[in-house]
Formats: sequence, C-alpha cells, structure tokens
Amino acid sequence: MITEVHVPLGERAYDIRIGGGLLGRAGAEIAPLLHRSRVAVITDENVGARHLDTLRTGLAAEGIEMVSLALPPGESTKGWPQFSRAVEWLLEQKVERRDVVVALGGGVIGDLVGFAAAVLRRGVRFVQIPTSLLAQVDSSVGGKTGINAPQGKNLIGAFHQPSLVLADTDVLKTLPTRDFLAGYGEVVKYGLLGDAAFFEWLEENGPALAAGDDDARIYAVRRSCEMKAEIVVRDETEQGDRALLNLGHTFCHALEAATGYSDRLLHGEGVAVGCALAFELSSRLGLCAQEDPSRVRAHLKAMGMKCDLSDIPGDLPGAEALLELMGQDKKVVDGQLRFILARGIGQAFVTSDVPREAVLDVLHDGLS
Ligand code: GLY
Repeated sequence: MITEVHVPLGERAYDIRIGGGLLGRAGAEIAPLLHRSRVAVITDENVGARHLDTLRTGLAAEGIEMVSLALPPGESTKGWPQFSRAVEWLLEQKVERRDVVVALGGGVIGDLVGFAAAVLRRGVRFVQIPTSLLAQVDSSVGGKTGINAPQGKNLIGAFHQPSLVLADTDVLKTLPTRDFLAGYGEVVKYGLLGDAAFFEWLEENGPALAAGDDDARIYAVRRSCEMKAEIVVRDETEQGDRALLNLGHTFCHALEAATGYSDRLLHGEGVAVGCALAFELSSRLGLCAQEDPSRVRAHLKAMGMKCDLSDIPGDLPGAEALLELMGQDKKVVDGQLRFILARGIGQAFVTSDVPREAVLDVLHDGLS
C-alpha cells in the first residue's frame, strides 16, 4: 500500500509518498519530474551498499540512467569538505539546472545533498529518499537543508524544498533497533506536540510498530508527515509556529553538546529525553497535569527508550553547565532562550517566559 501526503506550498508544493517497495519503483515515481532520463544520486557508503542496486534497478525500469557518489557515513560528513566534494562531483557529472538530484540516506545525507541542490547553479530540484525513520518523519520533509560549522550544528544552510519525498518503509527493516527507536523519539514528539489521539495510538501500537508491523509503521510515518506538513505550510521559514517541531530540542541540543555529539546519545534519543524534561518543566510550572510527565516517561520506558538523564551513559556536566549549553542553541532570540512547553499532551506552545531557576531545578533533580 502506498499512501501520500501533499505539502501545499504553492509553486514549491510536493508529495510525500509512503509505503513498502518505493525504492524499486523509484523510476515510475521520479520520471514525471525529469527533462532527460538521467539522475545523480548521492548516498553514504553504508546505505549505498544496501540500497543503491535496488534504486538503480528501479530507475532502469523506466529507462533512467543513474550516476552515484557515496560519501563516508556519519555526522562528520556534514561539513564543508564533503559538501564541496558533493557539489564539485555534481558539476563534474554535468548536472544541469533542469536536472534532478537524489538524496538517498538518513538525515546527514538529506541535509547535505539538499543544501548542495540549493546552491548548485543557484538551485536545482532534488528528491529525498530517506532511509532512516528519523529522516522519514522529520528531516526529509520541510526543506531545511544544511551542514554543520565548527561553531555548531546546522548553522550553514538554506530552505530548499524537495520536489518529491519517497519514504520506503521496507528499508526501515534494515535499521538497527537503536536507530529505529531513536527515530521513534521524533514520532512520539508529534503526538506530544499536537495530537493527543496520536499519542494514545502510539501507546497502544508502539510495541507492534517497533516489532515490524508494516501497517502501523506506514500509519505512524504518514501521521508524522501530515503534522509536519501542516506546520511547515503555516510557517515555512520558522518565524513562529514551526518552532513547535523543536519540542524537546532545547534540552536535547544541550545534552548532545555535553556528550560530544557521540554515540552516547543519538539525536532522537536526546529528543525523547528532552520531551520528558519539557513535560516535567511544564508540570512544575503548573501548565499541565502532574500525570502528563509520568505518562510520557511510561511510554518511552515501555518502548525500551532512554527517558531520564540517568539513562545517558557516562558523566554529564552539572545543571548550570547544561543551562549554559542551552544558551548556545540557535533558537535563542535576542539572548532569550525559547522553550516549547505544553498545557497537556498534544498542546505544545512556544515561550521565552521560563524562569531560569525552574529549568535549573528540573535539570538538578534529573541529575541527582
Ligand atoms: N526538524 C525541525 C524542522 O524541520 O523545523
């Protein structure tokens, strides 16, 4: 079953197709976008080894020729050296203004290739084929592209919407459980930020989804993409509401920085811990019911996910140091930290009005 979410952004509108077997039928999906039967695909070495042949066959079925470049896997690829390599390779391949570039991979590849497409010949179209759960429900949708700078993550980039997203849920079967569950952190985020019924559905169906239930996976990816699309359409360039998508991220970014962006804490794991902390903070500020943070933590625990600061292996800096790291977050506006808090499950809102002491208390208690 293939299902579709439309992102109605006027001239930049596009579809997200979700379901099993999309990689093998990529030719039929992409052909309507092409002026000539050739695409340039950029992937990473791990994803390429697993999925490039299926993609090549799928494209060839429609007579589409493919050239490909595989970059090293990992977050360190997302910087200037591999970015220049990708852009120069696209130029060597004589990719023209009307051609289409394909990003086949997780968030690192999607962000880097999207940014390369944004600047190549002042902008070429690109197709996202996200291969991680995190990329299928978050980074491949919405047009945020970019690379990291020595000063911080995602500080160099552009808004450049894809022309099509193909989320093949079959490829999720090849993900290690830890990576899958890290992506699930972003899925839970959608329920928590704006759809209590979806969160309830996840409480019921999360275990089956993690165990491999195809229909549950397709529904979860679809509902996540619908919610993201709706927010992106309201606020494409994050002047306001799009910040809701950062529920849990202010805490998460500080924790990622504190753990050196290492294997100790994957981004989606940090989002899950950050969501639990955001609900704890909301409850202490009297914004949501006291049961809400317990319910959030109970679901994460039931899924075998990290939910507390104590679940992060190794030492963490103290509460003051973590708060200091939050100050480096790019969501700081006029020196004010912005938090996404909640009036209940599914009722998040953006605020800068959070007493420093309350944040310190939550962190301090979580660390003790
Ligand atoms: N990942 C958050 C956003 O796309 O705005």
